Amino acid sequence: MPPRSPDPLWLFGYGSLLWRPDFPYEERVHGYVLGFTRRFWQGSTDHRGVPGAPGRVVTLVPEHGARCWGTAYRVASSARDEVLAKLDTREQQGYERHVTTVHTTPSIEALVYIAGPENPDYLGPASVDFIAAQVRQSRGPSGDNREYVLRLAEALREMDADDPHVAELALRLSRT
Ligand code: BEZ
Repeated sequence: MPPRSPDPLWLFGYGSLLWRPDFPYEERVHGYVLGFTRRFWQGSTDHRGVPGAPGRVVTLVPEHGARCWGTAYRVASSARDEVLAKLDTREQQGYERHVTTVHTTPSIEALVYIAGPENPDYLGPASVDFIAAQVRQSRGPSGDNREYVLRLAEALREMDADDPHVAELALRLSRT
């Protein structure tokens, strides 16, 4: 049973939603969630990889004292059900809804989709070199995995958001 969704519906994006929010929204604001860090630990066989050769996409991993910057979107009320239905299909790839506090002024209660370690596509930690090699060779219906990493890094740079894990990976991938 998914948690109740805030009304109005705010969605916290920390991955592809940062550069491609493909739904109508009425307002957006940058902010961060506390106690989580962004990691390329989730396998993707439907967007940036294929079955048998998964790409790597981001999820949020609990880490004491960490903060993860992203963007909260206030979804147009007319689009609420459609947007939730669309994002919920990602649950098939291991993401589940959670309600979180997005720190901005004022703070916002928002939905966020997180893929936890119990889902079958979870890949977990690996060295930056290993992740870079996997990303370099992965592509899926939504395009090259490398493009996903570079666009995420660019979106974070534009927000002035510091994320060493993403920046280090993007640096390796931009050299090749
Ligand atoms: C995101 O881009 O923040 C995102 C959206 C749905 C599932 C996982 C991540």
